[in-house]
Parts: sequence; C-alpha cells; structure tokens
Amino acid sequence: MGDDLRRDVGAPGAMPAPGRSRPPLPMTPPIAAPSILSADFSRLGEELAIVDPARDWAHCDVMDNHFVPNLTFGPLLVAAVRKLTTALVDVHLMIDEPARIVPAFREAGADLITVHLEACADLGATLAAVRATGARVGLALKPGTPFAAAERHLADLDLLLVMTVEPGFGGQAFMADMLDKVRAAAAWREAHGARYLIEVDGGITPETARTARVAGADVFVAGHSVYRQGDPRAALEGLREAIT
Ligand code: DX5
Ligand code: ZN
Repeated sequence: MGDDLRRDVGAPGAMPAPGRSRPPLPMTPPIAAPSILSADFSRLGEELAIVDPARDWAHCDVMDNHFVPNLTFGPLLVAAVRKLTTALVDVHLMIDEPARIVPAFREAGADLITVHLEACADLGATLAAVRATGARVGLALKPGTPFAAAERHLADLDLLLVMTVEPGFGGQAFMADMLDKVRAAAAWREAHGARYLIEVDGGITPETARTARVAGADVFVAGHSVYRQGDPRAALEGLREAIT
C-alpha cells in the first residue's frame, strides 16, 4: 500500500459540526465496516455510535431498484451519516450509470465511493469522475464477474470490492467460492505493486471474515451480523477480534 493511499484527500463537502474535528481516517487493514442497511434508521445516531472512527468505516448501501431490485437512499441520507459520525463514510453505489450523481454523494460527505463494473458503460470515465470529486475510488464486482474483467483498472483503484453475495439485500449467505477472487486480487496486487484495499461484502460474520482475512481481504462489511444482534456493539467487537 503506497503512501498516497494513506493521505487524507481533504475535507468532503459537508464538514463535521464546528469544534468536532475528524481523526485520521483508518486505511490500514484490517478494517470493520458496519453496514447501516441492517440498522434501525429511526435510531441512526445510536446505531452509528458503535462505529469507532479510529478503526472502522461506516458502510452505506445505495440501491436504485434498477441495477438491483431493492431501493434504499441517496445523498440526503449520506449527509445525515456524515453529521452523525466522523468515521470514514464508505459509499457503495448499486446504481446504473452512477457518474452523473457521484458529485452529489461527495458533496454529501462520502470519503470513498465505489461503483459497480457491471453498471457502467464507460467504466474508465466513471472511475475518473469519482477521482475528480476528490473521493477515494472503489470498484465492485458482482459474484458472476470474473476478476480479470477489472484488471485494466486495478492500478488506479483505492479499493476493490469483492461481493460475497448477490448485491441487493442484507442477510444472505456468504459465497465461499468468492474467496478465489479475493486470493486473485491479493496476488495481483502483490505482483504489480498495486495499493488497493480488498473489501468483502455480504454474509460476513466473525467466522466468514476470518476465512476472507486469510484469503487476503482487508475490509469487512457486516450488516446482519452486527446490527441484527442483541448487542451490536459486542457483535462489532467480535468481528474486530476475528479479523485481527
Ligand atoms: C448487499 C450490501 C451489503 C449488505 C450486507 O447488497 O452491499 O453491504 O449490507 O449485509 P449482510 O452483512 O447482512 O450480508
Ligand atoms: Zn455494500
């Protein structure tokens, strides 16, 4: 991982309230990323309070009822998340042709914006559009998309998201056969001196996270296994321990 990945790319459009400075954003793996998709949105402040800005990311799943069958939220809610936590805001866009709306997510406070390879007619231009906002740049692959499809973009990425379920819904079972893709991503990074972090998303529990960590994953998104547990704070601590 190069120094440029560790750099703070600057403040996003929406700053924390006056007097509330942001700590350095964690970019050194392993990183847990609770997904608010499974949180109770009527208590979003409390749900986000378990996220430790020094260690974790806040993962936000944006769905358009087109690229995926589910429909969630847009920049307005990301702006609320930005106000509620100083943690790195990790925005996973499951929307078709996201380039036009990427600046709005950056202005809302996204620190890292991930687009899907399968959703972009001109992927190079879309990744450049994300980079131009000043956000860190992520690329996501659905389970059916081979690692090789991403190869020509890998050198420029801050993050490669290997989906370990079909995108669209929380609470699905982890697809263990995606571990080969994680291994391929880790091997390519090593062979080419690339700097992207490898994120896994879908069916992540302490047990599946451990196997993904061994395969080479760095960032572990978890919805149900954190927020649908009796004690989400303890569940998140269990995830952190599993990946350490
Ligand atoms: C699914 C989303 C995930 C989701 C994961 O399409 O990208 O981030 O929140 O949920 P769990 O951890 O419950 O599988
Ligand atoms: Zn996600």
